[in-house]
Amino acid sequence: MISTITQLKTQFENALVAAFGSEFAEIDPILVPASNPRFGDYQSNVAMSLTKKLGKSPRAIAEQLVQHLDVADLCQPPEIAGPGFINLTLKPEYLETQLNSIQSDPRLGVAPVSHPKRVIVDYPSPNIAKEMHVGHLRPAVIGDCIARILEFVGHDVQRISHVGDWGTPFGMLIAHLRTAYPEALSSTENLDLGDLSTFYREAKKRFDTDAEFREVARQSVVQLQAGDEETLRAWRIVCELSSRSYRKIYDLMGILPFIERGESFYNPFLPDVVKELEQQGLLVEDAGAKCVFLEGFTNKDGKPLPLIVQKSDGGYNYATTDLAAIRYRVQVDKAQRVIYPVGAEQTNHFAQIFQVGKRAGWITDEVEFIHAPFGLVLGEDGQKLKTRSGEAIPLKELLEEAIARARTDLETRIQEEGRQESETFIENVARVVGIGAVKYADLSQNRTSNYIFSYDKMLALQGNTAPYMLYAYVRVQGISRKGQIDFEHLGSDAQVSLKEEPELVLAKHLLQLSETLAEVAQDLLPNRLCQYLFELSQKFNQFYDRCPVLQAEEPLRTSRLILCDLTARTLKLGLSLLGIEVLERM
Ligand code: ARG
Repeated sequence: MISTITQLKTQFENALVAAFGSEFAEIDPILVPASNPRFGDYQSNVAMSLTKKLGKSPRAIAEQLVQHLDVADLCQPPEIAGPGFINLTLKPEYLETQLNSIQSDPRLGVAPVSHPKRVIVDYPSPNIAKEMHVGHLRPAVIGDCIARILEFVGHDVQRISHVGDWGTPFGMLIAHLRTAYPEALSSTENLDLGDLSTFYREAKKRFDTDAEFREVARQSVVQLQAGDEETLRAWRIVCELSSRSYRKIYDLMGILPFIERGESFYNPFLPDVVKELEQQGLLVEDAGAKCVFLEGFTNKDGKPLPLIVQKSDGGYNYATTDLAAIRYRVQVDKAQRVIYPVGAEQTNHFAQIFQVGKRAGWITDEVEFIHAPFGLVLGEDGQKLKTRSGEAIPLKELLEEAIARARTDLETRIQEEGRQESETFIENVARVVGIGAVKYADLSQNRTSNYIFSYDKMLALQGNTAPYMLYAYVRVQGISRKGQIDFEHLGSDAQVSLKEEPELVLAKHLLQLSETLAEVAQDLLPNRLCQYLFELSQKFNQFYDRCPVLQAEEPLRTSRLILCDLTARTLKLGLSLLGIEVLERM
């Protein structure tokens, strides 16, 4: 199904040509949702933008345009207002036809894009062996959501985690593995090395207190870089241990599977990257280090800033690895759009490597590299969220706490309402609500701002929260239980007919899903989808409060049941794209 705004846009483009000639074919009709529902549903501001070009008043332009505008199937007669706004109000019959056609469509009218792209989404990439902490929440939640949305609208999406699996901290971990768990190296089975955080802490403690151990650790780094077989084996075991421990958290969060292609993967390509930069004439030697001087970046003395790609000791760094990844993603993966949901503190890093990637000829005009930055997660005191002892809160703890609190709320409610519920039910509801609340609280904020992490706010039943949305869904399921309605079999002749204002308001909103998803796919701001779903729940609640459903006479009853069903399905689909499950009861 073609979205309403797209259909209107086409009609405006035709009218511009018909009214003013073919040189107006490329003009943007400046069509937007109406600024106020009193003016209708959409408005075009194009007349104001053409006064110079046409030498006429905007009202005269608007009148001429409207004479050639063929929107009678969709709208009431267009109205010209103020200086020359063209206001459009959708006709109930048009809304009814659209709703009837999406009723049988599992995609709810969202047509797959006509030109699918190969997209890579950079996934959470912790530096291995460290426990995942609150800093890894946003890349996981945002990355997963963006990937789900792009995939749903029809793109070919690859999720790739660029884990930090190389570098000096490994010396310490490998040395610890060798002496504390020597059997791990000779056995072919997976040994239980305990949990990752204990392992890391033990290694760190020895490193900080034992000079001899420090020396062994240092040597291990050298052996690792030299490709020593036994050291590589130890390294692989440590990577595996940490991968397994991360996977448990991703599973708890419902993060879809992804490819792990860590920094080490790019090692063999690093010398080539530097060589190519040299061939392009981009490389300058500065105090023994090989660098590219950046355009538009200066140090505090106003001198051009160098990006080091090979240190004076011959070693490579984070930037070199990311440059190799850019080259690989374009040339081997054939990506057309590469998205990096990474914290705003790395804005310079990405601007710099993208610049070098362009100048080296790897990033051409056909590919788009995007850093989608996000803000910090703050505590209620407005400072970076920390434990009492000042460390970053482990992600597992944060999630478990949300689940535990959701459980307490649920148990209180069960008791107050005198319900009997099984342990399986309680466990499941607490998990879905707890995880959903954390994700929704994150996604509903503008991605680029910092936000304050508050369990009380995110778990509240009122407001723009996951529980509010989950309740709206449960409410519809309640209608079907109460009326013993099987939404899937309302009858093939079941039709929507829209009479009351709240029905029209709800209907219009239901039909905006496709527009909303197109926007998010472009701007990568999931909060727009949250806002859409929040307004949907509100509009549904107003409809349900004012229009009887089960008590209504036929054919109105069936028509309203269809509106209920479409609302529930839209909520379920929308939440699933945010990575949030729904519940039939809670
Ligand atoms: N490992 C990095 C860190 O912890 C994040 C990597 C982000 N992705 C990338 N392609 N640079 O800061």
